[in-house]
Amino acid sequence: MTATVVNGRTIAQAIRKKITDELLSLKTQYHKNPVVMTLVVGKEPSSQLYLKLRDAACTEVGIISHHMNFDGKVSEETILKTIRTLNADASVHGILVQYPVPQHLSQETLMQAIAPQKDVEGFHPINLGRTLLGDEHLVPCTPFAVLKILESLQVDVKGKDVVIVNHSNVVGKPLAALLLNRNATVSICHVFTKDLKQYTQNADILITGAGVPNLITKEHIKDQAIVIDVGIIQTKDGVCGDVDAASVRSKAVLLTPVPGGVGPVTIACALMNMVKTYKNYMSIVKKR
Ligand SMILES: NC(=O)c1ccc[n+]([C@@H]2O[C@H](COP(=O)([O-])OP(=O)(O)OC[C@H]3O[C@@H](n4cnc5c(N)ncnc54)[C@H](OP(=O)(O)O)[C@@H]3O)[C@@H](O)[C@H]2O)c1
Repeated sequence: MTATVVNGRTIAQAIRKKITDELLSLKTQYHKNPVVMTLVVGKEPSSQLYLKLRDAACTEVGIISHHMNFDGKVSEETILKTIRTLNADASVHGILVQYPVPQHLSQETLMQAIAPQKDVEGFHPINLGRTLLGDEHLVPCTPFAVLKILESLQVDVKGKDVVIVNHSNVVGKPLAALLLNRNATVSICHVFTKDLKQYTQNADILITGAGVPNLITKEHIKDQAIVIDVGIIQTKDGVCGDVDAASVRSKAVLLTPVPGGVGPVTIACALMNMVKTYKNYMSIVKKR
């Protein structure tokens, strides 16, 4: 048996089409396009490519995407002051900080500074708390993308054994919450997990985002497993994920490739969140 390789670009395109249609109709109501501002600190090469792809997607659906670029040595206070100004700026509906940021800046402090209703990434504690409580509104984009992929494959996660290899605040933890909200049985693994295989071999759905090439081989999965590769690793030969695709393909039923799997869907999910922040703002204005 050979796994079906999931085409993330097709899934993303379908999401973008829906957004384009929704924005056309919202524009007749509000006479404005959504405007999002991204704060970019330094010149991280992986961020530059991501921003280019995301900007192209924004243009395609009718979202106006602006950037503010800061020197890599900028102070945290300058960034926080900028975020506060943008929080109060009625012409900006959504705000993002492009991560990773240089080490002298606290990611958590920046995440908490963005007004929850403008928080495109869904990283503010209020939005993460809502996700945890099952009141999902602005949900982190990569976990949201994993759900969208499963949804588009018509995979019902209810009662499934799902293993996530990643316990970061931006991927593994919110993803676990989203899956629990849908009644999956979730295990989370990380570097301190004593025996990774012991968990992954029992997974109906394995979602891996460790950032370690070839971490997952066919010995790690059970027959007919669904394998979603969130990892993005830049190597001298190009980009790869965590999964040794050649090995896993012979045993899995579905596999997301890298590139062309979770990545494009993550961008499409960011656009969905941008539309939500725009609608948040417009509904507030309407009530006034
Ligand atoms: N496709 C997308 O759209 C997208 C979006 C965001 C991130 N990513 C990619 O996803 C990966 C993770 O991103 P992140 O921001 O969550 O990074 P991160 O904070 O470094 O998280 C990596 C996670 O994997 C765990 N891990 C690392 N090596 C492991 C190993 N050998 N065995 C088991 N667990 C291991 C880490 O555990 P510890 O914390 O205990 O070290 C951590 O929980 C990266 O490759 C990143 O580029 C992709």
